[in-house]
This record gives sequence, C-alpha cells and structure tokens, in this order.
Amino acid sequence: MSESTGSEGRRFPAPEQLAASANVGPDVYEQAESDRLAFWETQARRLSWTQEWDEVLDWTDPPFAKWFVGGKLNVAYNCLDRHVEAGHGDQVAYHWEGEPGDTRTITYAQLTEDVCRAANALLELGVQAGDRVAIYMPMIPETIVAMLACARIGAVHMVVFGGFSADALASRITDAGAVLVVTADGGYRRGAPSALKPAVDDAVSRTEGVRNVLVVRRTEQDVEWTEGRDLWWHDVVDRQSPEHTPEAFDAEHPLYIMYTSGTTAKPKGILHTSGGYLTQVAYTHWATFDLKPDTDVYWTAADVGWVTGHSYIVYGPLANRATSVMYEGTPETPHRGRWFELIEKYRVSILYTAPTVIRTFMKWGEDIPAGFDLTSLRVLGSVGEPINPEAWLWYHQNIGGGRCPIVDTWWQTETGAHMITPLPGVTDLKPGSAQTPFPGISAKVVDDEGNELGDDSTGLLVLTQPWPSMLRTIWGDDDRYVDTYWSRFGKEVYFAGDGAKKDADGDIWLLGRVDDVMNVSGHRISTTEVESSLVAHPAVAEAAVVGASDPTTGQGIVAFVILRGSAQDSGEDLVQQLRTHVSKDIGPIAKPRQIMVVQELPKTRSGKIMRRLLRDVAENRELGDVTTLTDSSVMNLIKDKLPATS
Ligand code: WTA
Repeated sequence: MSESTGSEGRRFPAPEQLAASANVGPDVYEQAESDRLAFWETQARRLSWTQEWDEVLDWTDPPFAKWFVGGKLNVAYNCLDRHVEAGHGDQVAYHWEGEPGDTRTITYAQLTEDVCRAANALLELGVQAGDRVAIYMPMIPETIVAMLACARIGAVHMVVFGGFSADALASRITDAGAVLVVTADGGYRRGAPSALKPAVDDAVSRTEGVRNVLVVRRTEQDVEWTEGRDLWWHDVVDRQSPEHTPEAFDAEHPLYIMYTSGTTAKPKGILHTSGGYLTQVAYTHWATFDLKPDTDVYWTAADVGWVTGHSYIVYGPLANRATSVMYEGTPETPHRGRWFELIEKYRVSILYTAPTVIRTFMKWGEDIPAGFDLTSLRVLGSVGEPINPEAWLWYHQNIGGGRCPIVDTWWQTETGAHMITPLPGVTDLKPGSAQTPFPGISAKVVDDEGNELGDDSTGLLVLTQPWPSMLRTIWGDDDRYVDTYWSRFGKEVYFAGDGAKKDADGDIWLLGRVDDVMNVSGHRISTTEVESSLVAHPAVAEAAVVGASDPTTGQGIVAFVILRGSAQDSGEDLVQQLRTHVSKDIGPIAKPRQIMVVQELPKTRSGKIMRRLLRDVAENRELGDVTTLTDSSVMNLIKDKLPATS
C-alpha cells in the first residue's frame, strides 16, 4: 500500500467557529442511518411541493428507481419564484463576470422574470413538456435562463459543453431527438471571441427534427443565418410577458440529459429527473459547503456544460437561494491572477473547483494568490478527480490561508450530486481522501466478487442503496443502463467504475477509474498513487501516469511530468531521482519504467487528463480520437519528446 497518499498523516479538524454554527453537526450521520428514507423525506421537505408524495421510494423493479412517488413540483418555481415570494427578490442570484471584464448583476426577481419570458418564448415556438432542447452556449446568464425555462415548462434540456465539436453536438442532438437548439454567436475564451454558431449550423444540417435555432448575441461576430429556422433571442424572448404560471410536474418527470463518455465510442445520455434530483443537489449543496444564503458568496468555478455546473452552479445554489459568482472565461485571461481578483472583488466565501486547476496554480507559483485579499474565503471544495495531498496542502495554505476546510467531493454525472465527502463542520480532514459517504448514502468497497472489504484494503467502489439524485436510465437505452452500472454485482448494486481503498480508520480514498488501475507483475497500482508521489517531489508540478503493456511485467509504469518553474533542469539526473523517489515512496514495484518531461498534458475541456492518449504514446501507437482535447497540438509536442527507440 502506498505511503504517498497517507504519509502526510496530518489531520485538519473542523475550525471551532465553523463547527459551532455549521448547518449540520455530527449527529446527522446517525439520523440518516436510523431511517434512511425518513432522512431523505426530511430533505425533500426543504423544497416546495404542490402535491406530497405517497411513497418515498419505489425500488420494486431495480435498477429502475422512483423517488417521491406521486409527488408534484415545479423545479424552476423552487429555484426562483418561491424566494421572491418570501421577500428575497432583491437578493443577487448571480454576479456574472464576462471575460473581457463586462459584468451583470442579476437578482432573484430579475432572474424569475427572465426565465418566465424565456418560458413563454419556448411555448410560442411550440416546445412542449417532454420535448428535448439542446443548449450549446458560452458561460453567460442566458444559459441558465434557458435551462430553467425548460424546467419551468417541463421540457428536457440537454446542455452540450461549448467546447465540443460540431460532430459531438450532432450525435447528441440526434440521440436526444432535440427540437430546438439554443446557442449564441460565440463567447470569450483566452481573450478572443470564439464562435459557436458555425458548429450549430454544421450539426443541425446533419440532423433531423430541429425546428428552430435560438441565438443569443454575445460577441457580435458575423453569423450565417437560415431564414425561418434561426431566431435572435432578443427578438423572440425580450417581447414576452415576464409572467408565467408554473405547472407542477411529477417528481419523476425528466429534467435533463447530460452526455458523458464511456468506454465505447457512443456517449451515454444520462437521464436525471425532478424531485429526487433537486432534493439531493439542494441538500448536499447546503450541507457540504455549509451554505449560509444570507451571507455567503458562492463560486463553482466550472463550466455549466458539465454536471458540476448543472448541480452546483444552477440547481443546488438556486434552490438554496445562494448568491453565486459566474465567470465566463479562462483563469489566465487577461492575467494569471484573474480568479483571485474575482474572489477579492466579490468577497467569495466558498470556492469549488478541480484539482487540475489547483495544480496549474501551483505551477504558476504561490506569489500570484498572495497578491490578493482572499480572507473572505471560509470553505473550499474539490471535485473531478482525486486531489493529491500535495495539491490539497497547497490549496489549503495558499488559497485557504490555512483556515478553510477543504471538502473533497466524490460523485459522478450519474450520481447527480455529492456521494462521498467530508462535512466542513464535522470531519477531521485527511488531505487526499474523500473520507465518508454523505449522510443517507451507502458506499462500500468490495472485492472482484462483490464481497465487502474491511478496513485497510483496496477494491472497487459500489453504492448499495438507491439515492434520490441517481440517474434513472441512459436515454433510450435501458439495457445499456443495466449492463453498464447494475450487472457486475447484481441489479441492486451500482458499480461506479472507480477503484477505492479503505484505510485503517475506515476512510475512503478514491484511486481513479478502474481502467486507470495498473497491474504490474500482478500488483494492483493506481495511476493516482504514482502521480501523487511524483507531485510530492519538489521539482514536479504535474504528473500523469499510464500503464503501458510490457512483455515481462504485464504493464509497465510510464510517467509524464511537468516540472515546476524553478526546476527546469530536465536532465537525466532528475529523471533518475524521480524514479528513485517513487520507488522509495511507494515501493520498488511502483518505480516508473520511463519518465518523460513534457511542457503540457493532454486534457479534456472538463480538465481530465486523457490517459488514453498518453497510453497510445507510451505504447507507440497511432493516436486515438483527439477531438475532445482543449488543444490537440499538445500531443505533437509530447510525441516530439519521445526517444526514437521507445
Ligand atoms: C472522478 C464529475 C476522486 C471519478 C462530478 C468519477 C473523483 C469521475 C472525484 C466522474 C473526487 C470525481 N475524488 N475522483 N473527489 N470526483 N472523480 O462524471 O473517477 O465528470 O468516477 O463527474 O470523476 O466524472 P464526472
């Protein structure tokens, strides 16, 4: 077992003041344990229902769950009108900041009116409850308005991340059967307008069933126009009535589809529904971040186009009446302190982001955050991949000023909301570990046969009880839903696809996707473990590790590392040092066969390292599909570094 993930050994107890006034205390686990369904029922009551449910959970036909059976509610009403009716219309819902520096402040009253106008516009365009609407947008308020307008009228939104290609958009439009696409002329990225409309034109021309394209003007770029099909948002939406009476929908009415890539080429359309989803995103957002709606300023620094944005920029925060920051652009535009400038400007108190961003900030150096006033921060969050202890400590110290708990939240597009995470007012934090199943969630570590493992062991992560925000199916493909998630250990056990270990205290450490777990001479070694060890070396800023096939050992460990600014000596000596370091840290079995020093790593637009491509390089193969990379030229740079013989 690796020392690198646990060797730090330090614990970070909940700050006293935070613990004393935290939204949830230690007794929450017992409450949830004693009656899980009653616990979730209590959390559902935090929402406003038009009709109460008859039954909390129907699990008679696993893995097809129904939560809050018979209950009715309107999701948009819960996110908007009810706060206005309660006298909070003037509270800011979003401080929006465009990349060029333009800003918009949107109150709950204004957002409610905007959503009503958009809902009326969708109705005028013939969109009906149950219809699918594709949303392909930059990070601007209209994206959220469009999502909520769909929710309000019972249409199902399908947001496609604005960085995806026309191809990806076309296949999703077809699979979902969208009737309308909402887009913009473009958005700002890295200091320049980046077009969106051409990809929509291309995608729609290859699909059937899209009647209209509704276009927000953002960058004022020239756009091609298809008369009769294309409509400007400002022409159609602005003239609508700001009033719309929300209709209550069934708790199991579909809310949205979000595509996520699986192991095959065809992406999976993950379907989320209304009542259970909103219950769990709202409650987790409130409990995990200790959200105080009257005083906190909350910022999920992620794109709305992936699930983190859906659950923790839009639905969770709005259901809880949070004041949020929303930022359009990239962290380095126009300078590397942009995020910190925003934290200072809006007095952000809760920041939620991904480890890859933290490691980028580490690479840029601690002087940058040190130049800003970050004292407003009180809780930090991490999501998307395991956060190595080194990055955790850096985040804690250099952004959190040593005083903010970090909640390392494990969850997936499929789970909809947080599943394993510390609670900031309760948990003694261990850097690098997500630690504890959220109250009301049953997560276990099992062996290959599905037997539950005790403490101090490594295996596979499973969820053994249904949860309110769980995916309901894969859109149009119930069989694939069953096969992918509910067949390995039977129909009542959800197979998450992540490796995990339980340490001696019973805390859970996520070890990355099981397809990222290497097998070297019969030993199971996580890529994350080796990466963690490498990043703990003072010369290394970022590392990605893959298992490349090896004739003797099964797999051999190949590491790609980015050095810190101060350690640009990439000589053979350093590479040897790093190999020895890992060998010492984890054990000789984990000593990388090869270490390549690179300038960049290939990442998807949601920040995940594409290990598949690195494996192609390590195994000297033709590169696979690079279309989801932020920058496909990265791969050429890496290939150029390869020794001719490898
Ligand atoms: C990984 C993002 C370790 C994991 C919300 C999961 C994590 C996949 C963590 C889902 C974390 C996410 N610690 N691993 N805190 N959070 N993951 O669907 O492998 O984009 O299965 O959802 O990311 O990615 P997805």
